[in-house]
Amino acid sequence: MILLGGCSTPQSALDPQGPAARAIAQAWWVMFWGAWAVLALVMGLVLYAVFRRPQSRSSGRAFIIGGGLLLPILTLAALLIYGTQIGNILTDRPSPAVRIEVTGHQWWWEVRYPDAPAGEVVTANEIHIPAARPVQLLLTSDDVIHSFWVPTLAGKLDLIPGKLNRLWIQADAPGRYRGQCAEFCGLQHARMALLVIAQPQADFDHWLTHQGRTPTAPADALRQRGRAAFLEVGCADCHTVRGTPADGKQGPDLTHVGSRHTLAALTLENTPDNLARWIAHNQALKPGNRMKSFDHLPDTQITAIAAWLASLR
Ligand code: CUA
Repeated sequence: MILLGGCSTPQSALDPQGPAARAIAQAWWVMFWGAWAVLALVMGLVLYAVFRRPQSRSSGRAFIIGGGLLLPILTLAALLIYGTQIGNILTDRPSPAVRIEVTGHQWWWEVRYPDAPAGEVVTANEIHIPAARPVQLLLTSDDVIHSFWVPTLAGKLDLIPGKLNRLWIQADAPGRYRGQCAEFCGLQHARMALLVIAQPQADFDHWLTHQGRTPTAPADALRQRGRAAFLEVGCADCHTVRGTPADGKQGPDLTHVGSRHTLAALTLENTPDNLARWIAHNQALKPGNRMKSFDHLPDTQITAIAAWLASLR
């Protein structure tokens, strides 16, 4: 459903939903109509050259200085000034409402809120932001170069290992905005998508506080078995779940995985069934990803792990 939802809200830079994207779309239209005007002018000159009467005379010198020098100089200078102004809109602004650290991994997005009130919040593939507020993203990569692009909200910016790039995003209104890694980064580059979820400030504050909490231990037998199996079969080597001994750093933090909309960077809708499918057959669903398929485990064990993870909301 969420994947279809991605289709109904097109991932288009020409459908801007925030100030930065609007500035980029405006620049695009200026270039588009400007290019048409230049084409029309050149075609007009071609037609004039073809159809002018041979005996008519015009000043070659004035034409070369005017059309060959002045016109390009003025046009390019105007574009430079305009482009610089657009660039200023896209670069740093003071006092962001939130700072969010986004780290690219093959092939998922790690998302951290270092200033969260109840301690650092870590999630994956889903960036919650307050609507109508400027948000600063601090972008870096853990492995190869990725590129962060949510076309309806902002321009494209690379995530480069060892470097911190800053990007401003702002959504005019609450909603979901789909993004995509825009730099080829290996086999599953195409399945490295993300969602930006803009919420009213109060909802965002509530979300952030909730994500900072440690989930309570499961009360029923199924989920207790799931938690025990998770710790036993090796999931904890790569994943962190706060409140348990699991503190692996290779894969996404799963402390509140049940509250996310998708699995594996928008590969699957997040349901208990899909969680079980993912654990057992992830190499068939997203070949080459850094997790191994756990299809050697008995179904009952996988179902229990999925039930526990789904309850981490
Ligand atoms: Cu990450 Cu393409």
